[in-house]
Amino acid sequence: MIYSKILFTGAYVPENSISNDDLTTIVDTNDEWIRTRSGIEQRYFSKGENTSDIAAKAGLDVLNKGNINPKDVDLIIVATVSGDYTTPSTACLVQAALGAENAVAFDISAACSGFIFAMSVADKYIRSGVYRNALVIGAEVLSKYLDFTDRGTCVLFGDGAAGVYMEASDTPGILAEDMGSDGSRGLALTCGHRKAENGFFGTKRDENSFLQMDGRAVFDFATRQTPKCIRILLEKSGIPLEKIRYVIPHQANIRIVEVISRKLKIPMEKFYMNLHQYGNTSSATIPIALNEMMEKGMLQKDDIILIVGFGGGLTWGGMMIQL
Ligand code: UT7
Repeated sequence: MIYSKILFTGAYVPENSISNDDLTTIVDTNDEWIRTRSGIEQRYFSKGENTSDIAAKAGLDVLNKGNINPKDVDLIIVATVSGDYTTPSTACLVQAALGAENAVAFDISAACSGFIFAMSVADKYIRSGVYRNALVIGAEVLSKYLDFTDRGTCVLFGDGAAGVYMEASDTPGILAEDMGSDGSRGLALTCGHRKAENGFFGTKRDENSFLQMDGRAVFDFATRQTPKCIRILLEKSGIPLEKIRYVIPHQANIRIVEVISRKLKIPMEKFYMNLHQYGNTSSATIPIALNEMMEKGMLQKDDIILIVGFGGGLTWGGMMIQL
């Protein structure tokens, strides 16, 4: 039987850290509101680096950690909703930047659940024997889609990239997964909209492609769906809660995680949080957290972790993983 294992992680965030106070200079907000309503203290905004640039830097960090030759990478999947172009894909740009000339490369669009969806696809390719390894990256430059006159969204999001190197193994890595979508509620969180207008018929292009969100609707969705997803993972894997070293949730709002913690009676200490430092980097939050924990020595081989995300689509996904 072939399984897939995470062997190495890596990350990159742009250098400009923006505090809540910095945001008060351009939008009607304040540090107290942002901290208490979301848990965010600062985020990083790119100044010139695009999504493929930060994704490639995160990818290089992953490969360097494992001393892996880019030419030996079989598959590159980038989860993103903020690619440099509609085409080429961000993954193809990353492939070129890394010199991973033998890899197949494509993107996955599932917003904040994207990294989990991408890992799931990589896992299936590896388990089926089609590819032996994969570089899976979550990367976003969301700042280019933020409307800095909309205080309900612009204070919440940030830019960043991180990823993992997965390889075929004869021992299980992903012990259980659960993913789902509810397209009927998709308009609660949109980004990059383009109307079907064109110059031939003399109509103007819609220029409002900003990220737009019904925060309450997404909050309700997240606090209902994420506990269900965690319960399913516990049931499918048969792993008792005590055996899980950490739950690494998508970092969108500390209050969402507090509700999940209360509903499932999982102590907050079991959740790894770094939202205060990065804000919501969508597909990148989970791998950024995972990489940070690896670098801090908080995770060892054979540890069991649970990752879980939710967001645009609307989508959700979770995995029980043995490292
Ligand atoms: O990654 C997945 C995508 N996103 C999410 O998971 C986000 C999910 N939603 C949330 O996290 C929360 O709903 C928000 C943080 C977006 C909003 O929190 P809330 O407690 O639902 O606040 P609200 O939108 O109901 O706004 C409450 C008040 C309003 O003022 P009034 O009408 O009560 O006078 C807002 O105008 O807070 C005001 N407000 C702000 N005030 C200062 C909204 N944004 C701000 C702000 N600074 N940045």
